[in-house]
Amino acid sequence: MTSYNLKQWFYVKRPDERVSEQHYALRESVISPTLAKNEVLLEAKYISVDPYMRIQQAAKPNWEQPHALNTVQGAAVVAQVLKSNSERFKQGDWVSAYSGWQTHAVVHANEIQALNPNDADVKTALGVLGMPGRTAWFGLMEAGKPKAGETVVVSGAAGAVGSLVTQFAIKNGCRVIALAGSEEKCTWLEKLGVAYALNYKQFDSAQQLHERLMELGGVDVYFDNVGGMNTDAVLSSLNLRARVVICGQISQYDGSLDNPELGPRFLHQLLYKRATIQGILARDFTHRMPEMINHILPWLKAGEIQFKTTEINGFENLPSALEGLFEGKNIGKAIVRVK
Ligand SMILES: NC(=O)c1ccc[n+]([C@@H]2O[C@H](COP(=O)([O-])OP(=O)(O)OC[C@H]3O[C@@H](n4cnc5c(N)ncnc54)[C@H](OP(=O)(O)O)[C@@H]3O)[C@@H](O)[C@H]2O)c1
Repeated sequence: MTSYNLKQWFYVKRPDERVSEQHYALRESVISPTLAKNEVLLEAKYISVDPYMRIQQAAKPNWEQPHALNTVQGAAVVAQVLKSNSERFKQGDWVSAYSGWQTHAVVHANEIQALNPNDADVKTALGVLGMPGRTAWFGLMEAGKPKAGETVVVSGAAGAVGSLVTQFAIKNGCRVIALAGSEEKCTWLEKLGVAYALNYKQFDSAQQLHERLMELGGVDVYFDNVGGMNTDAVLSSLNLRARVVICGQISQYDGSLDNPELGPRFLHQLLYKRATIQGILARDFTHRMPEMINHILPWLKAGEIQFKTTEINGFENLPSALEGLFEGKNIGKAIVRVK
């Protein structure tokens, strides 16, 4: 029977502040799995690191219970089938799965989705044609309700979700003001066609950023990925009947989810501007993936949407790649290439 060297990153210690390698343990073993009916053995090729992993490490429940300690870190994965006992999959097929930070996994065929490498680069399943794409598309279109000519402000605009929201809003005829954390990111966003890319780190205070946003005409739709100073500035810059979409608050994940910082009280701004605010969650739209892909795949194939990745090489680097998200190291989607 063939044996395989299995590597797994276990989540072993809850972080109080920034997550890093000390919160994980790398374990190795040799496996010779036998497959039950409809099971397949996967070999991970690309593994995702995402900010939600840190939310799930907070002490308090979020949309579900915190990630259990001493279990393999959950994550989306692009894999190839090594062995199959399912009629639907054969050796060599590309699939996406939620099999976590491990090199190999035995999963039921119902838990994986087939990928067609002739349609699109398989890595898109972790980005534009996967969870980040779904979040960006439904979050913007259904909660943001952007109209052509409106000003859409996107925070975390050079990231996995933000860079897609930015491009979808431009395709929708909106004027986009992108907020991002470096000149390199702003230059890329300008190439994507944003009206303005502002490096929020160049502003000393929320008040300064607010003044700049008001000079630029205020905000009709705010797609928020980061919270904190960016959001304080935007919420006092809303136009009448603005829509605020809360997608993420990454500036608060390093410990502040358990010990919240008190920001400015802003609800009066919503009153003055008759604005609405809505949280959105990717998983609420999972059943609508085909609809999202029907919209976006043709744009991707035609080169009208860019899917940019920051690839980190080596399974061993998964924890540091996750940490890198909180240091702004990625442009586009951060993905770890297993080998
Ligand atoms: N609601 C949902 O279902 C859903 C789904 C996916 C993602 N999200 C959320 O969406 C946000 C973006 O996720 P993503 O996967 O696209 O990650 P990402 O934007 O690709 O990566 C994280 C980026 O956040 C920025 N950042 C980190 N710390 C920051 C801080 N203190 N202040 C401002 N910006 C900071 C960094 O860019 P800069 O260089 O610009 O600082 C970094 O590159 C996250 O908050 C995530 O939790 C929500």
